[in-house]
Amino acid sequence: MFRPMEVVTARACANIALVKYWGKRDALLNLPAAGSLSLTLAALTTETTVQFDEALADDELVLDGAAVPAQAGDVRRLTAFLDLVRAQAGIPIHARVASRNNFPTASGLASSASGFAALAAAATAAAGLELPPRELSILARRGSGSAARSVFGGFVRMHAGSTSDDAYAEPVASPLAERVRMVIAVVGGGAPKSHSSRDAMDHTAATSPMYRAWLDLVPRDLEAAEAALAAGDLERLGVIAEANALAMHASALAARPAVVYWRPATLALLEKVRGLRACGVAAWATMDAGPHVKVLTTVDDASTIAMQLRDLDGVTAVTISAPGGAADVTDGPAGGPADSSPAAADEAPPP
Ligand code: DP6
Repeated sequence: MFRPMEVVTARACANIALVKYWGKRDALLNLPAAGSLSLTLAALTTETTVQFDEALADDELVLDGAAVPAQAGDVRRLTAFLDLVRAQAGIPIHARVASRNNFPTASGLASSASGFAALAAAATAAAGLELPPRELSILARRGSGSAARSVFGGFVRMHAGSTSDDAYAEPVASPLAERVRMVIAVVGGGAPKSHSSRDAMDHTAATSPMYRAWLDLVPRDLEAAEAALAAGDLERLGVIAEANALAMHASALAARPAVVYWRPATLALLEKVRGLRACGVAAWATMDAGPHVKVLTTVDDASTIAMQLRDLDGVTAVTISAPGGAADVTDGPAGGPADSSPAAADEAPPP
């Protein structure tokens, strides 16, 4: 039931794709051109509070403690998303939204994933809607494709869908869930990225001669990655993840003009990870729409890797993360106790 003025807080973890989402088949519905597969991370979280208030003339957004100007792109994107919630709930009321990340925003560290997953959970609860997780995933996708995956914890598979609006994510059980870790090496202090992933994937699809090959590759990598997850084979999963990330970047690098997210430290990190692997350490690298490198590894090897990456030139922070839990309302009508919150991180998040 909708109760105006009720304040609802939700928390969601970011996720890092092991088989990437890079390209859309429908921009309006934000439908991905292919499926993807990710790991939700406990160390990178967003907490979002939503309050619908009849007194407001427009939606208001406070991001990491700073009010965002009404004409900013982030507010337009928020309002477009809240319009979907308002339409579903039948309430024509604007909202006050405050969102806080415990990691750098819009720097290629998946802030839109945790951001829209937390917003979807908080806004629907504040609007009196009780959506099943699949519906919440579909809604979160309208905000950001990767957010559909952050609705769930652990390993998550995103389905491309086949009809108008049926692309959703769901969790994938794996014996690996207990023992994987992700080491996140932040390059350049988490400065905002040069091209948003949204613009860059559209530009890749429109101009890259490698985009077709990328789309042909994804279903094969997804099938192999899911088989590796089912078999509990981290090496097979890691090999696919690193190769898939490089293929995504190859398609972006071949766009005209090129989309280059890497910095010199990105390549140094990649080389270090490959060197550690040659010495028997379980380590596979992946990179997203930014210069940072995330390393898939085990609970046993994570601190060795973190120590090795920390001293590289250009690396400003290194964090080890355990798998995170599902997006959840933490305070409000369905506010759960503390034990429904994401699993604790192994180490402090990056500044
Ligand atoms: C490189 O989910 O940010 O991180 O749907 O346009 O908001 P939109 O894109 P977004 O793209 C994420 C791209 C990626 C790969 C991934 O997370 O799968």
